[in-house]
Amino acid sequence: MKSSYLTVFWGIALVTTSCAQATLKEAFKNDFLIGAALSPAQFYESNQVEAALVKAEFNSISPENVLKWEVIHPELGQYDFTLADRYVAFGETNQMFIIGHNLVWQNQTPDWVFQDQHGQPVGRTVLLKRMREHILTVVGRYKGRIKGWDVVNEALADTGHLSKDSRWFKIVGSDYIEKAFQYAHEADPEAELYYNDYSIEIGSKHYGALALIRKLKSSGIPIHAVGMQGHYNLDWPTNSDLEAAINDFAKIGVKVMITELDVDVLPSAWDVGSADITKNVKLQEKLNPYPASLPKDVGQRLANRYAELFRIFLKHRDAISRVTLWGVEDGDSWLNDWPVAGRTSYPLLFDRAGKPKPAFERVVSLSAAAGQTNCCIK
Ligand code: GLA
Repeated sequence: MKSSYLTVFWGIALVTTSCAQATLKEAFKNDFLIGAALSPAQFYESNQVEAALVKAEFNSISPENVLKWEVIHPELGQYDFTLADRYVAFGETNQMFIIGHNLVWQNQTPDWVFQDQHGQPVGRTVLLKRMREHILTVVGRYKGRIKGWDVVNEALADTGHLSKDSRWFKIVGSDYIEKAFQYAHEADPEAELYYNDYSIEIGSKHYGALALIRKLKSSGIPIHAVGMQGHYNLDWPTNSDLEAAINDFAKIGVKVMITELDVDVLPSAWDVGSADITKNVKLQEKLNPYPASLPKDVGQRLANRYAELFRIFLKHRDAISRVTLWGVEDGDSWLNDWPVAGRTSYPLLFDRAGKPKPAFERVVSLSAAAGQTNCCIK
């Protein structure tokens, strides 16, 4: 009698377990890491809903801002690791693959880095010394804990050549990239090292990225992966361009990571530059068409687009080692404030309440792992 009760109990328990809502990390556990960029409210867990969501869904984390130079090393000789330490501790506690972003970039790097005490540009030797000291200090602090670093971010211009606007380029010259990778390797020989950039899927910038990585590899510089940021929209890049890009990078011997994925559904704002739409009602309506909520049909297009993208990622799972979303829920996204401030954007897989969107359902249901573990997804 007792044993038949038990049989019934376990039967119910099993059915319940196998019907559990699939998670992203479960769905892609055999394919690639799945990550999100975090802000302090998430890794301090002051936003409990979002912290719980991060723990449930993701097995890798990136710091949206807290490891950038301006935050961690705001003044000469002055570091502030408060936020970064907490970010790393959160990832360790939750057994996540922790990413460092980033070491050398033109933006979000304070002016003092490039200047002497009189505000005049420093020379190559001083700047390289500062770069090495920064990298040894930051990478060294998290040695063995931060597993992969975006060593150089956005070094290429649209032409495919190294950007001449970068103060790193202007002062050090084109080998600043090699130097950054060498210093990072010196600081943590086990860490994976990445070159990270946007719009390297097609055109001159794509060929520039291939040439840069080939050159680094042929000079014996340790580079393990290319980060394609993945700031996409409903039409760009085309599926075939994306696939060709993944194949091209894989062929030259680097892993491919999608490091900052989001899909913008709002109208392009480039025509109006950086106009402040909060002051212009007409512009507001035109550029911010969904201030209250995303219409169902647009949500559906977004879901289709995410499904296409993840179908491609899965097809190329041997080449791709990580897919990271740039934010956790729509309210986090930088696209609410860029390139114009004050828009309501919907580029991620979770809505502002932290609830899965149709795009999430489509994405998890694509994977073989989700098919085995989830009987609820239709
Ligand atoms: C770039 C950087 C990121 C971030 C985004 C906007 O892609 O790599 O760190 O600043 O822009 O959030």
